Amino acid sequence: MRIGMLTGGGDCPGLNAVIRAAVRKGIGNYGHRFVGYRHGWRGLIEGETMTLTMETTRGLLSRGGTILGTSRTNPFKVEGGPEHVLATLERDGTDALIAIGGDDTLGVALRLADQGVHVIGVPKTIDNDLSATDFTFGFHTAVQIATDAIDRLQTTAESHDRVMVVELMGRHAGWITAYAGLAGGADVILVPEEPFDIAAVCASIAERHARGANSSIVAVAEGAVPKEGTMVVQSGETDAFGHVRLGGISHVLAAEIENRTGFETRVTILGHVLRGGTPTAYDRVIATRFGIAAIDGVQIGDFTTMVSLRGTDVVRVPLAEGVAQSKTVDAALLADARLFND
Ligand code: F6P
Repeated sequence: MRIGMLTGGGDCPGLNAVIRAAVRKGIGNYGHRFVGYRHGWRGLIEGETMTLTMETTRGLLSRGGTILGTSRTNPFKVEGGPEHVLATLERDGTDALIAIGGDDTLGVALRLADQGVHVIGVPKTIDNDLSATDFTFGFHTAVQIATDAIDRLQTTAESHDRVMVVELMGRHAGWITAYAGLAGGADVILVPEEPFDIAAVCASIAERHARGANSSIVAVAEGAVPKEGTMVVQSGETDAFGHVRLGGISHVLAAEIENRTGFETRVTILGHVLRGGTPTAYDRVIATRFGIAAIDGVQIGDFTTMVSLRGTDVVRVPLAEGVAQSKTVDAALLADARLFND
């Protein structure tokens, strides 16, 4: 069989580990051949490929990013896009496609499956916001990087008697912020799932300092929003999937905190740092197991599915389930993370 593979959406640590695992098992155990499509769905529209062999995928386990390149191209938003995708698959004699991506990339995969494409999805995103899997790979790496950053911010905050606002990615899900906030001992944790009250945030910081703390860490998700009418925030431009480009809430928040409490406040936006570099051991393990489960699915023709982590098992679930709804932070985790906010 000839199998195509692509990575779409934002990159994340572990993509290369998936590619390596699928290619190795696909060639080594099943005798398949592979074609890589460059830059997500754009490679299928424009017919841009790269060779994936044992040799070209060697040494990838620990390498961040994606050797295939990625983009946020949506073929259904491009004139003749789906037709170009089908023509490229036909041209290359591609029998099945492994699409590695988040809800956008997998949503496109599902629509193409409806048009007869044999496809298996592999869920990735640092945001961990896909509902049909317990974790996506990339998430733990992002949490580790964020936690390391919070640890470092703690000591400089203490030295200067400052409030440090640290802004973390996660789009409209607060998973990274809740986990890293808990692991780093942040004093305030703000997530998109619960609009915040700026007066309450400032009051809690003022109370901490009145009780003797000389510094505070505020972990805020980039998609966190104030309760309606309590603070003004900007909105940005949108991408091909209609997502607003986030980032910047921390500056507005820090200015309010400094004005209202009088405590010197600084901002750190970790942004794409959370997505870069080598995956943690845990993410390497999940990514490798996902790659294996994807190629095993291709081998037995279990198409229109998505590989998924359920507890400690890697299974395949219907692709439609994978993109059905986004997974938001559960209230119990948030309550645990905030228990120590005093
Ligand atoms: O979905 C992953 C993610 O890193 C989000 O956390 C973030 O909002 C977005 O991608 C950033 O996208 P871009 O790299 O296109 O700026």
